[in-house]
Amino acid sequence: MAEPKKLFIKTYGCQMNVYDSERMAEALGASGYATTDRADDADMILLNTCHIREKAAEKVYSELGRFKGLKAEKPDLKIGVAGCVAQAEGEEIMRRQPLVDLVVGPQSYHRLPAMEAKARAGEKALDTDFPEEDKFEILKDRPKARRGPTAFLTVQEGCDKFCAFCVVPYTRGAEVSRPVDRILREARDLVARGVREITLLGQNVNAYHGEGPDGRDWSLARLIRTLAEIDGLERIRFTTSHPNDMEDDLIAAHGDCDKLMPYLHLPVQSGSDRVLKAMNRKHTAESYIRLIERIRAARPDLLLSGDFIVGFPGETEADFRDTLALVETVGYGQAFSFKYSARPGTPAAEQEEVPEDRKSERLQRLQALLNEQARAAQESMVGRTLDVLFEKPGRLEGQLVGKSGYLHAVHAQAAPEMIGRIAPVRILRAEPHSLAGELAL
Ligand code: SAH
Ligand code: SF4
Ligand code: F3S
Repeated sequence: MAEPKKLFIKTYGCQMNVYDSERMAEALGASGYATTDRADDADMILLNTCHIREKAAEKVYSELGRFKGLKAEKPDLKIGVAGCVAQAEGEEIMRRQPLVDLVVGPQSYHRLPAMEAKARAGEKALDTDFPEEDKFEILKDRPKARRGPTAFLTVQEGCDKFCAFCVVPYTRGAEVSRPVDRILREARDLVARGVREITLLGQNVNAYHGEGPDGRDWSLARLIRTLAEIDGLERIRFTTSHPNDMEDDLIAAHGDCDKLMPYLHLPVQSGSDRVLKAMNRKHTAESYIRLIERIRAARPDLLLSGDFIVGFPGETEADFRDTLALVETVGYGQAFSFKYSARPGTPAAEQEEVPEDRKSERLQRLQALLNEQARAAQESMVGRTLDVLFEKPGRLEGQLVGKSGYLHAVHAQAAPEMIGRIAPVRILRAEPHSLAGELAL
């Protein structure tokens, strides 16, 4: 048998890219590639890129520049760019960095084997179409290896919301939901391979409306309830959601579906109605707060997570204080916050920017508050006994790490056989990035 060629993939951006990178590795597996974690060992390097903020996009070019020496040493090395920068910048990437052989947008990954062959033949390969077919379908019959206890599963892709700052509707295209039967098949397959927790992914996952086996559109809640019937699947999560798509049946599922974990990522972006309107979010601070109250009525211990942007064009000190006030009112267990970054082609990019130092100063103030809340959420776990799904060995000898239902990392002394199992752990202390506990069997 021929020695397998080696594939090195570096993944940036959101979880959907993580999922896509796994699928790309499987697709190229059929062309004789095995993955490697060393770029200097590879016959093909793929960067799966993110375009969400300027810094994320620029990283790609600096990373590509670093491969110059490698390519000089190894003329057969092929270099590809996938993901959202590929979609947004297309051919421009090859112009800016001639060592790139292949550019593939997020909707064309099923065409990767053919593109690889073209690149091998010495031609440049580019595909940034939005084809009709399901990019994951070609993979359904591949033999698959056993895998770790947690997995992502993309159920919905793209976005029709067009928030004024965001590139996703342009890079991922229109909102599309995968049919229920394909998702169930993939979930059963994952469980058979050792997966105990599945995180359903979508840029707007709670807008899911895939075709069910009955020919009707199913909601995300219905999909979750059906997934919950799979024996061996112990935990279900989903991300990322939009407040306007948080329907009653999904709220109810947080209360009565045991396998749905008590953690919800529900970005609000700003606490100022003026800014929310300019962002085209189509909700207010007040409607968001009411929504959180309803979700917490269904699931009182829910740990809430969110995304925030500071320094959106036109944001005043008063607007920013409204964001701080919303954070105080809602209380987040975890959060991601960013300085606004103008993205070419989005409506907000036309507007005058808030000065950089003001953005930095606001981000610091917001993060101080969010960190305090995250810390308090962690401290509130101390003394409780939580179910932990163990995922892998910890940093110290004899230790395993896993996640609680609230998505906190938890470490405890436990035998390696406990990997993939859920066990009660008494939480002893909160450390900066995790909780320390002991098995309470
Ligand atoms: N689909 C998800 C997330 C999109 S990107 C959602 O709708 O929530 C993840 C986060 O990046 C966003 O929630 C937003 O907070 C941030 N983001 C998006 N565009 C940005 C920009 N131009 N500048 C700064 N942050 C941005
Ligand atoms: Fe971007 Fe808004 Fe769509 Fe989220 S809902 S992906 S922030 S346009
Ligand atoms: Fe980035 Fe694209 Fe995800 S822009 S955040 S990789 S959808």
